[in-house]
Amino acid sequence: MAEKTPSPALPPEELNETEAARELEALAARLNEASRAYHVNDAPIMPDAEYDALYRRNQAIEARFPDLVRPDSPSRKVGEEAAAGFAKARHGTPMLSLDNAFAPEDFAEFAARIRRFLGLSAEEVLRFVAEPKIDGLSVNLTYEKGRFVRGATRGDGTVGEDITENLLTLDQLPRELKAPFPERIEVRGEVFMTKADFLAFHAEQTRLFEERELRRETGEKVGEAVRIPVNPRNAAAGSLRQLDAKVTASRPLRLFAYAQGTSSSPVAETHSGYLDVLRGWGFQVNPLSTLLDDENASADFQARMAERRAGLEYDIDGVVYKLDRLDWQTRLGFVGRAPRWAIAWKFPAERAVTKLLDIQIQVGRTGALTPRAIMQPVNVGGVMVQHATLHNEDEVARRDARVGDTVELQRAGDVIPQIIRVVDPEREGRGEPWVPPTVCPECGSPAVRPEGEVVRRCTGGLICPAQQVERLIHFASRNAMDIEGLGIENIVLLHEEGLVKTPADIFRVKDHVSTLRGWKGWGGSAKGESKKVQNLLAAIEARRSVSLERFIFALGIRRIGEQNARLLARHYHTAEAWRQAMLDARIIGSEAREDLGGIIGIGPAIAQELVGFFSETRNVEALDDLLREVSPEPAEAVAEGALSGKSIVFTGSLETMTRQEAEARAEALGAKVVKSVSKKTDFVVIGADAGSKAKKAAELELKTLTEAEWRELAGFGPA
Ligand code: IVH
Repeated sequence: MAEKTPSPALPPEELNETEAARELEALAARLNEASRAYHVNDAPIMPDAEYDALYRRNQAIEARFPDLVRPDSPSRKVGEEAAAGFAKARHGTPMLSLDNAFAPEDFAEFAARIRRFLGLSAEEVLRFVAEPKIDGLSVNLTYEKGRFVRGATRGDGTVGEDITENLLTLDQLPRELKAPFPERIEVRGEVFMTKADFLAFHAEQTRLFEERELRRETGEKVGEAVRIPVNPRNAAAGSLRQLDAKVTASRPLRLFAYAQGTSSSPVAETHSGYLDVLRGWGFQVNPLSTLLDDENASADFQARMAERRAGLEYDIDGVVYKLDRLDWQTRLGFVGRAPRWAIAWKFPAERAVTKLLDIQIQVGRTGALTPRAIMQPVNVGGVMVQHATLHNEDEVARRDARVGDTVELQRAGDVIPQIIRVVDPEREGRGEPWVPPTVCPECGSPAVRPEGEVVRRCTGGLICPAQQVERLIHFASRNAMDIEGLGIENIVLLHEEGLVKTPADIFRVKDHVSTLRGWKGWGGSAKGESKKVQNLLAAIEARRSVSLERFIFALGIRRIGEQNARLLARHYHTAEAWRQAMLDARIIGSEAREDLGGIIGIGPAIAQELVGFFSETRNVEALDDLLREVSPEPAEAVAEGALSGKSIVFTGSLETMTRQEAEARAEALGAKVVKSVSKKTDFVVIGADAGSKAKKAAELELKTLTEAEWRELAGFGPA
């Protein structure tokens, strides 16, 4: 499973519009990928907590830039649409989710809300049916004239996938209801795998996976990918959503029925009565489902289930409480996506103890090195776990987890669990404390952790395989090389197919036209290339010459954003001069280093990143390779002294640079910075909330500049 560490993010209010747009694009791609992986492919690629954090980030940026909300934004959809390959099935009534409770107070509030809504007094008894909450896949089963006619997944709640054929392979699914039954009814329930079946299935898939890997390593042709399920839910979902029903038939799936959708006529007055009807029709109903005498019995039931949980055949993550009276259910209705008459009271996070076998390093797409724990596989509440994230090196140090230690794990609804403590820190003969690597395990480049930062990063920039895709995406993006038609999707494809590894490779794609044409959707007629290939190649050719600032920015050197790239371009003028200066600047105390440090706006940290990039020979090789393909246009330098002899006043606050930076720049251009406005003042730069000086400038009819105009004049270019 790929764990990817996002780069340290700026607060949304510090993003400019282009940065925001780029990040929203990346977030949409990543979140949609994760959502598809979870809902459609049943193969989660990130922990729920990470998904939530990214989702919130997306929302925060959208709140600040409402015009940039994308049509494919994850905030615009609920759940995942039906997967390709299955017909769509619209539910008679929507399939909803449940609100969660975690503590007795939450349950009390739930019951109080019911009373308030129905106007019931405290004396009125509320009876609930308690049902163990099995984490499987919910299904909607339609019966007409007592015959099973269609079965569907939940999908986005309104439209699911038609999996009738697959459901027909389940022994526990009644094909015909025992009379009497309504003309048409939707029965809902959960398809799941027992723990024992899951463990056997997990072991079998692991074996198949390893066999396939071995064959692949020896160069043999291998068939379709083998998926190792991460938990029983995942296994059940994957089994049920097979395009080939024969595969489903071979998997040990079970079904409990527990709810109803549309019904052409009422079948019961209470939920407990409905469960009896379901049993009569021939469904399996969870035998632990219990009608409670009053609402206070819920805490007891919850405690009893928590105790029995480990011994149950199947995995449960809580108990669902449903108000028994159906007339009350109808009156209560729904709020948002959940009914007011039911709640899922969840158990606390699951824990288990196992042995730490190794601490490995993963390199994220942005070059961040993240330690990851490899453990003796252990069953944490029915889920086989062998990896845990350690977040960062400080965390490893804090927990002092060492190879060979026994550790306690916690899984809090996440796919990837966490190590919460070392169980035997006093053990004799314990290993050495873990030491973070100083070179990147992927590419061998130095891995450095700047002072004051938590993340260690690979300096291998352009040449590190783990970072290649991200770098290429940046390289081709709108504000960088702006290669039309070379979006994320195509880059990923070109990279996966091995055609493009470094930026220079993009310019050699033209040598692989026949390969491109062989791809689905890319093919042309016998006579010529398809428009798609033609357009892409033309877009690439068009960018063989770009401005030097775009070129420098496109390299994706850390801290070299558009603004700094522009400063460098203006200062060094040509690509050759810049390249040579950066190489020379590697030597501390050299003239080139001093010169670099003297550029206004380029602080020591930025200089360090540049020097770091140029200290890695393979980065320089990749750059030189690129310079053989692309010829950056020399930048027009703003002549030093362009403002020579002029006097300038800054007033109000500038948004894109500090006052200090603005004044230093003005001085570098030969201007005299003065504090007060007079007849002799040549320019007055007016920032936000400017006061009396702006007024005076107007009175004296002086030349005033907005911040944007000042940027232009000083050669900063647009913000
Ligand atoms: S009732 C409107 N009953 O939990 C009622 N759901 O978070 C919605 N689930 O998608 C469902 N056991 O997959 C209900 N006894 C039970 C359940 C149950 C498991 C799952 C189901 C649903 C999810 C809601």
